[in-house]
Formats: sequence, C-alpha cells, structure tokens
Amino acid sequence: MSELQKYPDQYRTVTVEKLINDGFGPRPWYHCIVAECINRQDSQQEMEIIGLIMYSFSYDVYGGRSVFGLELFVKPEHRGHKLGKALMHAKFLHAKEQGCTIAQTLVFHKHLRARQFQASFGYVDQTTEVPDSNRLNFLELMDGSFQDTLKKAEDELKTYKHIEVAGLNFKLQ
Ligand SMILES: CC(C)(COP(=O)(O)OP(=O)(O)OC[C@H]1O[C@@H](n2cnc3c(N)ncnc32)[C@H](O)[C@@H]1OP(=O)(O)O)[C@@H](O)C(=O)NCCC(=O)NCCS
Repeated sequence: MSELQKYPDQYRTVTVEKLINDGFGPRPWYHCIVAECINRQDSQQEMEIIGLIMYSFSYDVYGGRSVFGLELFVKPEHRGHKLGKALMHAKFLHAKEQGCTIAQTLVFHKHLRARQFQASFGYVDQTTEVPDSNRLNFLELMDGSFQDTLKKAEDELKTYKHIEVAGLNFKLQ
C-alpha cells in the first residue's frame, strides 16, 4: 500500500492508516488483490508484494451492480509479464462472484496508455466533452462486452497455478 503514496498526486489526502482502516475494518470500503512473489535470500523465503488492484462495488441505476476500478499498479521492474492483466482478471472474477453486470472506472485523459490498457478489456470511453488533459475520463464495460470479458478472465485464470480471490481458491493446477 505504501507504494501508492509515492505517486506525486496533489489530490490524494488519504493516508496509509486510513487505507488500512477503510479496507480492512468491519465494513470494507474497497477491495484489494495483491500479486506476490517469493524472494529467496540466504535460505530465507520472503513474500514481496509486486502489484495490486483496488476496486469497490457500487450501483448503477441503469446497469445494476457495478465493479468500480480504483487503482492498478505493478512495480516497474515486474511489468510486461502479464501481471497487470492477471490482476484485472482477478477483479473480474470477484465481480462475477458478486453478480456484477457492469464495470466502470476513471482514467486521466492525458494517460493515453492507461486508457488503451483499459480499452483492451473492452472498456468504452463514455466521455463526450472536449478533451482537457487534466480531466478524468469515464470508462464503462457493460452488456455483452462485460460477459465476454468475464469469460476471458475465467479462461485465462485457468492457466495460473494459484489464484485466490476474496478467500476463495479459484484454480489449482
Ligand atoms: C498499466 C500496468 C498496470 C500494466 O502492468 P503490466 O503487468 O506491465 O501489464 P501486462 O504485462 O499484464 O500487459 C497486458 C497487456 O497490456 C498491454 N499493456 C501493458 N501496459 C500497458 C499500458 N500502460 N497501456 C496500454 N497497454 C498496455 C501489454 O502490451 C499487454 O498486451 P498483450 O496482452 O496484447 O500482450 C503497469 O504498467 C503500471 O503499473 N503502470 C503504472 C500505473 C498505471 O498506469 N495504472 C493505471 C492503469 S489503467
């Protein structure tokens, strides 16, 4: 979680303590899935968090149960190994388990690659105003595209040795 605090983000007022209380208290305000790797040093084994995805469950009066993407981060030295994709798929699996029928997120207009990354999962940019680089774009994934993405997520995660979402083991190879 402390990795998030390194973002030069003038708008972020949340502290690590708040993140812990809000996510892991009696009523979790968000969900977080982490990717870990095993570090072996001097015959000691240590788990290191190398990526995370944060999301919350919300409601859309038109679309119904929604999974709202909040953060996605993979440590720079671990990028390009499909971890970001796996975290997105794990989020979709949890969303399916919760009966969601729509996925939504906000991405800065200026972050073209991030918008392209989301588009690769089927998210459609619903923003109609004149582009402003500091504006957040609203992205949605719904209907048949959402179902297709859920199916892809399930199929892809079958190839992983171990995936645990919300305390449930989904696949052991
Ligand atoms: C975006 C991010 C999570 C991707 O993580 P990653 O583990 O390197 O991504 P993956 O290896 O799973 O890539 C999956 C696919 O997305 C593509 N991709 C990766 N990063 C991308 C990006 N920033 N924009 C567009 N496409 C991207 C890859 O080419 C790959 O395509 P393929 O399946 O056709 O080969 C990572 O670059 C990151 O943490 N960036 C900084 C934080 C950020 O921008 N978060 C917001 C994301 S919306």
